Order: sequence, then structure tokens, then C-alpha cells
Amino acid sequence: MPNDNSSENEAIAILGGTGDQGLGLALRFAKAGRRVVIGSRKPERAEDAAKEVLAAVPGADVVGLGNDGAAAAAEIVILSVPFEHSASTVKGIRDQLGPGKVLVSMAVPLAAAIGDGAVRTLGIWQGSCAELLASIVPEGVEVVSAFQNVSAHRLQHLDEDVECDVIVSGAKAPRERVMALCPLIPGLRAVNGGPLANARIVEEITALLIGLNIRYKTPEGLGIRLTGLPGGE
Ligand SMILES: NC(=O)c1ccc[n+]([C@@H]2O[C@H](COP(=O)([O-])OP(=O)(O)OC[C@H]3O[C@@H](n4cnc5c(N)ncnc54)[C@H](OP(=O)(O)O)[C@@H]3O)[C@@H](O)[C@H]2O)c1
Repeated sequence: MPNDNSSENEAIAILGGTGDQGLGLALRFAKAGRRVVIGSRKPERAEDAAKEVLAAVPGADVVGLGNDGAAAAAEIVILSVPFEHSASTVKGIRDQLGPGKVLVSMAVPLAAAIGDGAVRTLGIWQGSCAELLASIVPEGVEVVSAFQNVSAHRLQHLDEDVECDVIVSGAKAPRERVMALCPLIPGLRAVNGGPLANARIVEEITALLIGLNIRYKTPEGLGIRLTGLPGGE
């Protein structure tokens, strides 16, 4: 699949796009007309996920590849694997991450990774999952933090708007590239979250949301909305 650097047409790779969150993003970006490359450890699982997207979005521009092939095929690479497998997955595709690529960190270091609950997070030496990934990507690759507070369930229900603000953090130019993806999904609004270190706060919000989902019995997943933003709704 050729790379297309014009930002409106550039492919979006989703590693681990066979899971709930990645598949939800794949469905939504495909529905918005974007080229989507689903990655998996097993290419046949990615192909099956691509077929699922095609069934839901006829005519979608979507393919399934191994994680390495998917990372090579796109300039924006969303990492959609559980936190505990994030660093090893990135190390496995390092050779496909060239300068100028943007790696989107979406994982939340939930304490469930060590057998504790999903309503708490783990302390990460670098500060957050996003900063951990930034410490291991090759030079010239930008890490941007986004989409941690968006519910997979809501992403997968294509008939309904998702209704969530997406706090996007990282260096200015790559951050703006990722912010531009948010309005492709009805109900998502991008919020400039400043430097990557703010991912520490955004990742924590997801643990809070999971607890709220339990207390309020909202399995479809709550979202977040900021009020009073200039130009906001
Ligand atoms: N679910 C949500 O509502 C939600 C909301 C916000 C953020 N997130 C974040 O989004 C990410 C994905 O969430 P999810 O619910 O989609 O996760 P998931 O379904 O548990 O896993 C996603 C994919 O990760 C891959 N994977 C599993 N074990 C792996 C391993 N040992 N090494 C490498 N890859 C492995 C699998 O893909 P293959 O087997 O095909 O390789 C799997 O389909 C997580 O980091 C999560 O924190 C999720």
C-alpha cells in the first residue's frame, strides 16, 4: 500500500486493531473515508478484522497486516495493545518507525496488568505510558498521547455519536496531526493537551472513568466534556 503524505489521505495504522478499542477506531476512521491498516501479531487475525470493518462499512479502504507491515504502511501509527505489552510491541516494530512518523500512545497503565484492579493505575518510572514509549522510539519519531478516555463500546456503535473530548498531548506539529483526526469521528472533539507529560493526568482519568462506569452501571462507557473552551460547543 503506498504512503500518501497529504494529511487528509494519509493511512492510519492501528496495531492491535483486532481488539475492542482498535477495531472501534478502525471502524470509525474507515467510515470517515480514511485508509486504515489494521495490525496484529497474526496477519490472519488482522485480515479477519479488516473483513469485519468492510462488512460494517461497505467500500472501506482497509487491510489487515502483521504489526510490522502495518507500521511500515502508515505515517500515523496508533498503538492499541494492553499497556503491559506496549513497550515490547514497539520494540518489535522499531525498524518500521522512521523519522517523521507519529506513534499514538493510547494505553493506560491499569493496575489490572499486575493482577490488581482496573480502577487504579500503576506508577511508571518515566511518568506515563506515553513517556515510556517516547523513551524507546527511534530518534525522529514523535509520540503523541490521545484517545485514552474514549470508550471502545461507543466507538463500535457506528449509529451513535461518541460524545467525548480527546485531550491530545505532545510536541506541537505531531499533536496537531493527531488533533486533526478527532473530528473525523462524530462526537469527538480534540483538546490541545500541551506537552507529552500531561499524559500522566489523562491516563489517570481513564481509571476514574472505569470506576464511574461501575458505580453508575454504564457499560457503554462514560466520556468526558470540558466546558468553556473558546470556540467550543
Ligand atoms: N477498551 C476500551 O474501552 C479502551 C478505552 C481507552 C483506552 N484503551 C486502551 O486501548 C488499548 C487497547 O484496548 P483493548 O480493550 O482493545 O485491548 P485488548 O482487546 O485486550 O487487546 C488489543 C489487542 O492487543 C493485542 N495483544 C494482546 N496481547 C498481546 C501481547 N502479549 N503482545 C502484543 N499484543 C497483544 C491483541 O492483538 P493480536 O492478538 O491481534 O496481536 C489484541 O487484540 C489498551 O492499551 C487500553 O488501555 C481501551
